[in-house]
Amino acid sequence: MAVQASDSRRERIVTLDKKRIWHPYTEMSAYRERVDPLVVVRAEGAKLYDADGRVYIDGNASWWTSTLGHNHPRLVRALERQAAEICHTALAGIVHPAAAELAERLCAVAPRGLDHVFFSDNGSTAVEVAMKQALQYWYQNGRPERRRFISLRDAFHGETMGVTALGGVEVFRRPFEDCLLESIHVPSPAWPASLDSACTALRRAIADNADCVAALVLEPMVQGAAGMRIYDASYLRLARELCDEYDVFLICDEVFAGYGRTGPMWASEQAGIRPDMLCTAKGFSGGMLPMAATLSSDRVFDGFLGEPERAFYYGHTFCGNPLGAAVALEVLNVFEQEDILAGAVSKAARIARAFEELGRLPGVACSRSLGMIGALDLVGEAGYLASPGWEVFEEARRLGAYLRPLGNVVYVTPSLNIPDDDLSHLIEVVCQSVAKVADRV
Ligand SMILES: Cc1ncc(COP(=O)(O)O)c(C=O)c1O
Repeated sequence: MAVQASDSRRERIVTLDKKRIWHPYTEMSAYRERVDPLVVVRAEGAKLYDADGRVYIDGNASWWTSTLGHNHPRLVRALERQAAEICHTALAGIVHPAAAELAERLCAVAPRGLDHVFFSDNGSTAVEVAMKQALQYWYQNGRPERRRFISLRDAFHGETMGVTALGGVEVFRRPFEDCLLESIHVPSPAWPASLDSACTALRRAIADNADCVAALVLEPMVQGAAGMRIYDASYLRLARELCDEYDVFLICDEVFAGYGRTGPMWASEQAGIRPDMLCTAKGFSGGMLPMAATLSSDRVFDGFLGEPERAFYYGHTFCGNPLGAAVALEVLNVFEQEDILAGAVSKAARIARAFEELGRLPGVACSRSLGMIGALDLVGEAGYLASPGWEVFEEARRLGAYLRPLGNVVYVTPSLNIPDDDLSHLIEVVCQSVAKVADRV
């Protein structure tokens, strides 16, 4: 009986899903005809539970968000406490305790000198805010001709129209190409490109365009959606030096790389640099609620003071939402009190060892790791639409792990506090499923 009940529940969910839901990043006819979706009904720690009672280790922390695991009891309690008091209020000319306390704590853990917080509700808007702040700053502070951005060729900064212009993943840009802001794309410093030639190209791009560039925008240390492409901290130091020399803003998009994903709290710390603006989301609210922030320096903030028309006329209905703010504040408490960054060091070392070994398999072109990220490229078809990664996904699913690939790139980005047993299981599943698929490619 129990099995039948679960079967019919699952069937109903899948029927409704296929009838109504338009999935992100998904060609829907193939999805409707061929995909047997994972129906997740519960999640706890590093595990997802499906409608049939099967358990999966969440290999990518649900799109890189649940850095503290799913339903961390302290975050759930913080949410309940806040919900009992106030779920939402506007933030314009009104404030509430959770937003005020969160802003204070966030500035205290941010790279020094980022003392102002603008809240929004997802990673794309966090970057969009930074872009608009940069444009408006120059517009009203004597350099109105600075209207362009420099970003990396394979960058990903989200999906709104502004940030799509910064993005370099071809398949995400192509349909919108002629509608986008003009931006300058420089070669990525990450493998397989040469770091030296990327540095030379960046130097030239900034020197040649300083008059018309508002900001350089980077994902520090790792280009996530491009395929976990990791690069050297020296590139970030050069970026900072050049931005100082030519008086161009440096925006670090820490939406993926922040909150300990690469080791330290912020990936920019790996290079010892301070951006002029820093964007955070995803792990910022422990993956529980849509919540984001853009931090900025005194210089940027002060550039908006004075006459009413100098204000930043921008905001989202749910910016600074009390529920999100209360959870984000508790995330910082948990990071500190449970010593999350220190606890992740040995886990990161295990990921590094596992991916180093995986790199030796014949069907694997290369592998890499940084902090709580391990990634490898399967040989053969490459790019976001490549299929071999999906073969690994299916194998891993059978073995009890969720491993959504990026084309031919198979990666893990588990929660930073994933229990050691779960990490062992995840690594075992990755090894087995990659070995099986790598044997065929
Ligand atoms: C570096 C980076 N910036 C921005 C975004 C966009 O975030 P969101 O999907 O919350 O809009 C992402 C999403 O993966 C990201 O990886």
